[in-house]
Amino acid sequence: MDYLHITGGAKLQGEINISGAKNAALPLLSATLLSNRPVQIDNLPNVADVKTLAKLLEHLGAVVSWLTPHQAQIDANHIIHTKAIYDIVRKMRASILVLGPLLARCGHCEVSLPGGCAIGARPVDLHILAMEKMGAEIHIEGGYIVAKAPKGLQGTQIVFDKITVTGCENVIMAAALAKGRTQIINAAREPEVVQLCEVLQNAGVEIQGVGTSVLEIIGTDREPLQIPTFSVIPDRIEAGTYLCAGAITNSHIRLTNANPTHLEAVLEKLRQIGFRLESNRDSIELFPATKRESFEIITTEHPGFPTDMQAQFMSLATQCNGTSVIQERLFENRFMHASELQRLGANITLKGNIATIVGSESSQLVGADVMATDLRASSALVLAGLVAQGSTNVHRIYHLDRGYENLEQKLTALGAQIERKSE
Ligand code: EPZ
Repeated sequence: MDYLHITGGAKLQGEINISGAKNAALPLLSATLLSNRPVQIDNLPNVADVKTLAKLLEHLGAVVSWLTPHQAQIDANHIIHTKAIYDIVRKMRASILVLGPLLARCGHCEVSLPGGCAIGARPVDLHILAMEKMGAEIHIEGGYIVAKAPKGLQGTQIVFDKITVTGCENVIMAAALAKGRTQIINAAREPEVVQLCEVLQNAGVEIQGVGTSVLEIIGTDREPLQIPTFSVIPDRIEAGTYLCAGAITNSHIRLTNANPTHLEAVLEKLRQIGFRLESNRDSIELFPATKRESFEIITTEHPGFPTDMQAQFMSLATQCNGTSVIQERLFENRFMHASELQRLGANITLKGNIATIVGSESSQLVGADVMATDLRASSALVLAGLVAQGSTNVHRIYHLDRGYENLEQKLTALGAQIERKSE
């Protein structure tokens, strides 16, 4: 298996180009199942999760043609079966995103229960409840969600008692081909959900309330969509991760193809710590701080502070003067990186869903071998390696490759000493 060998201490300098958003690409790829015509998607990130979902679409009968590593044409005219098999779904739980479109387009599907992952149980009960509310008959058999809606799905009111990003995306896609109006109360407001709505609007689906917590969708009553070519929005979590690379090394870096309006809470937190940031429509520039102060974070659904940035800020907290406090509200086990950071000498105390980090600008992490446990934890360990004395080896970086395109190349170009090696 590959690992990243990082030698700490280098300042960073220069520009990083941000790739397309993984968490936008996944629902948008699933949405091609709503069409019987070829759909071209540009600015796809070249990451493992996108490849996995493309393979699932092909397994279902879609024809996926890669025009470049970042551009694909998906033709889902001939769906030959509607079973999303365990072997693919277990590799990427976001495969659950084919549930809504398959049910709406074909009237039946079997989707493997995704199972949990390192950060939590990750149930899909809200997805299932919503599909049943729209008229599907669903039962669980042999680890599969077996769903039937032979007469199609019926628009209705869906009230989510918990905000769920992919749950909301599944309902939006199902509602696009349902009969009548669907109202979603307590909808997710992430930029990725907004882009899904915009792409469906451009395909002729009437959607009101885009970007708000109340969405109204008028379905086409199983009339397949014609989806015009579109480009995936920039990845706000990749952008936030590289801003943290600049912040933890107290460097001057500039992100291009980034959308500052998608990560306001992250930018504000960096300003509170002591950094100056300048941004325009598609770039964000971070300048070194004279002093970096401790901070408090409570992870919250968008537009609050994103849980996907929590691990990266825990690494940054080790370099901020004083005691920082991070409360993880969304997932029950998303502090796996803490014990690995402690191996590097970080002073972190965990109590339930609250992490307390005592840091200082003079505190020196010391390089060691550490193990990645999930996608964002991996990036947090890389960030810590950038400032740890000596060298750090981050193992099991297949987690990293799921959601970051060419991470070591992008950091090397900024002056980081990081290389990929094989065990
Ligand atoms: C999406 O996951 C993202 N993944 C996650 O990013 C992100 O961390 C998460 O949203 C929260 O922002 C994609 O978009 C592909 P949820 P999702 O449903 O949709 C509970 C990354 O690093 N819940 O919004 O699976 C759930 O347990 C990944 O890129 C239920 O109880 O998350 C959690 O506590 C990691 N029942 C909360 O809701 C359900 O049916 C939010 O989960 C669904 C969710």
